[in-house]
Amino acid sequence: MRISKPFPGLSFLSILALSFSFYTIRPTSSSASLQDQFINCLKRNTNFYFPLEKTFYAPAKNVSMFSQVLESTAQNLRFLSKSMPKPGFIFEPVHESHVQASILCSKKLGIHLRVRSGGHDYEGLSYVSRIETPFILIDLSKLREISVDIEDNSAWVQAGATNGELYYRIAEKSKIHGFPAGFCSSLGIGGHITGGAYGLLMRKFGLGADNVLDAKIIDANGKLLDRAGMGEDLFWAIRGGGGASFGIILAWKVNLVPLPKTVTVFNVTKTLEQDVGNKILSK
Ligand SMILES: Cc1cc2nc3c(=O)[nH]c(=O)nc-3n(C[C@H](O)[C@H](O)[C@H](O)COP(=O)(O)OP(=O)(O)OC[C@H]3O[C@@H](n4cnc5c(N)ncnc54)[C@H](O)[C@@H]3O)c2cc1C
Ligand SMILES: *[C@@H]1O[C@H](CO)[C@@H](O)[C@H](O)[C@H]1NC(C)=O
Ligand SMILES: *[C@@H]1O[C@H](CO)[C@@H](O)[C@H](O)[C@H]1NC(C)=O
Repeated sequence: MRISKPFPGLSFLSILALSFSFYTIRPTSSSASLQDQFINCLKRNTNFYFPLEKTFYAPAKNVSMFSQVLESTAQNLRFLSKSMPKPGFIFEPVHESHVQASILCSKKLGIHLRVRSGGHDYEGLSYVSRIETPFILIDLSKLREISVDIEDNSAWVQAGATNGELYYRIAEKSKIHGFPAGFCSSLGIGGHITGGAYGLLMRKFGLGADNVLDAKIIDANGKLLDRAGMGEDLFWAIRGGGGASFGIILAWKVNLVPLPKTVTVFNVTKTLEQDVGNKILSK
């Protein structure tokens, strides 16, 4: 669910687009050579190794592997049809510095990027671009670490983890802690919280976005910022203002909420005349 909040100023994408005009290097030939330029640039901007065969996917290299990765989390099949533009290549960072380097390198080479966490975007915005050519896909699915700190009532969760994985890791450590977010367990926590994140615990604890304590984001200049670094305005905006408008979120620090040991779920069935029936969650 994308709940829009008005936010003054330039969006992340327009800052990226503006910065392109300062660079003279333009994509000239095929996406294969673009990919090579991108890889060389990445190598100059990160000290952390990325095995090419597990981080880069391009149609020229292996079209079936490319499609497999592209489709792996895409939820709206309409945006995978033949007529839809495809990314020149897909990069799956295995270290946070790779995300930072991706922003710097796509600016430098004048390529647009799309960022995907769980792929549940209703309009396919995380893996299709119909206005920017060429574009590449930065897929965060290999950045999915979760560390739960029960003592502190909190957890750090990387953008590529799903909300289901977060619930599971919390439940492994405690039966009386939880996180109030979406019902569908395959949502990427990266995109999910940027749109609010409502779910079954919403009436008691609010949205997932209401229960965020800190975040790590990389801005359009490739700067890594936490809550103190980004300031309260940006911290407010990313919790409901939509994902890719402001930067790439690497991780969220979330507040855990107290759950009763026993949760009873039951169905109440009603006809339309009697009022629309629904599931009720109660203590
Ligand atoms: C089947 C289904 C069930 C759903 N159920 C619920 C629900 O119960 N509650 C609810 O609140 N919502 C629900 N949603 C909506 C869902 O929360 C949003 O679509 C959310 O944006 C998905 O996040 P994602 O990471 O999976 O998606 P993605 O497609 O990966 O990304 C969504 C958007 O965020 C951007 N983005 C992704 N990752 C990042 C990042 N790390 N930094 C910056 N921008 C990023 C993308 O570019 C894209 O614009 C549901 C959606 C589907 C398809
Ligand atoms: C391409 O990828 C598929 C997996 O999707 C694999 O089975 C196949 O061997 C690969 N082909 C080549 C030429 O590497
Ligand atoms: C409630 O109804 C749904 C849909 O019919 C069913 O799948 C579910 O098991 C029911 N739950 C309970 C607690 O009866």
